[in-house]
Amino acid sequence: MMRVVSGIQPTGNLHLGNYLGAIQRWVKMQDEAECIFFLADLHAITAYNDPAELTANIRAMAAALIACGVDAERSILFNQARVPAHPEMAWLLNGTARIGWLNRMTQFKEKSGKNREGASVGLFAYPVLQAADVLLYQATHVPVGEDQKQHLELARDVAIKFNTDYGVELFTVPEPHIGAAGARIMSLRDGGAKMSKSDPSDMSRINLTDDSDTIAQKVKKAKSDAELLPATWAELEGRAEARNLVQIYAVLAERSADDVLAEFAGHGFGRFKPVLADLMVAVISPITARFRDLLAHPEAIDAILADGAAKAAELAAPTLDGAYRALGLPNR
Ligand code: TYM
Repeated sequence: MMRVVSGIQPTGNLHLGNYLGAIQRWVKMQDEAECIFFLADLHAITAYNDPAELTANIRAMAAALIACGVDAERSILFNQARVPAHPEMAWLLNGTARIGWLNRMTQFKEKSGKNREGASVGLFAYPVLQAADVLLYQATHVPVGEDQKQHLELARDVAIKFNTDYGVELFTVPEPHIGAAGARIMSLRDGGAKMSKSDPSDMSRINLTDDSDTIAQKVKKAKSDAELLPATWAELEGRAEARNLVQIYAVLAERSADDVLAEFAGHGFGRFKPVLADLMVAVISPITARFRDLLAHPEAIDAILADGAAKAAELAAPTLDGAYRALGLPNR
């Protein structure tokens, strides 16, 4: 059986990178598999967040996911902090994960920067909690963008080492599920940096709450080049910004990049950009409208998260018990 598990941090806004790299596929996978999706609020506290803002962001991110098509009737949706099995399992796995493995994590290096000594312990141990998130539910597939691949490789290593060290077949070894297209959507201002909620420039990303005028402005100002579009994707080699815009169009339209280029070959960005902006607006504006409706009923969102958490806790319990037993702690 296919069991899909994935999470997103409830920090700020959902952007087009999250949507095309992960959420759009979460929504699709609901038709094929049992899906468990969560807001990684325990990951969010590895850096300082204003507490009141975090509380509001959890609800807003839940609403955004539902607005994108995550269906709480078919899938389980909750926030991590409601399911203590997550931090509990993370602690159990801390005995298996190696410091050397965590030292190699590029995200930790990027986020801690030059001030490693001043980074939080939570930021360093972050991937162990992520391993717990997926191993608790015997996930087979984990749909994520490219930037999460290394964390999931660590989850695989943890699962294999734990099963081997304790002579059990407790954990399913999960597969990262990275889309062929959309796995790495880049900033609109810099084709060498990924689109990210931590970029100080709001012009670098399309938020799923941006209105039509803002989207049109951001696309108009997006960095591109003065050359014409070629007929094939291969010929866009070396044109990072142009590739990014064509890729965004292709993933949004659910077409191949070559197919899109066949239509626009010989035209410049003056022609391409307005069509791209229209497509973005067509996809995003219904999501924004649903998002606003949902946010008007915070109690309904809380009820969905509470219900999802109860279901998740039930699914996680046997694996958590199994881990305690394997470790020689059967009588907790
Ligand atoms: P987060 O919250 O940074 O991002 C959520 C999802 O969006 C993808 N993503 C992108 N994809 C393509 N292009 C981009 N520019 C882009 N930016 C973000 C991410 O790859 C991710 O799939 N640590 C995770 C959350 C997490 C998790 C988990 C994920 C916690 N536990 C267990 C999977 C399984 C994170 O911070 O994602």
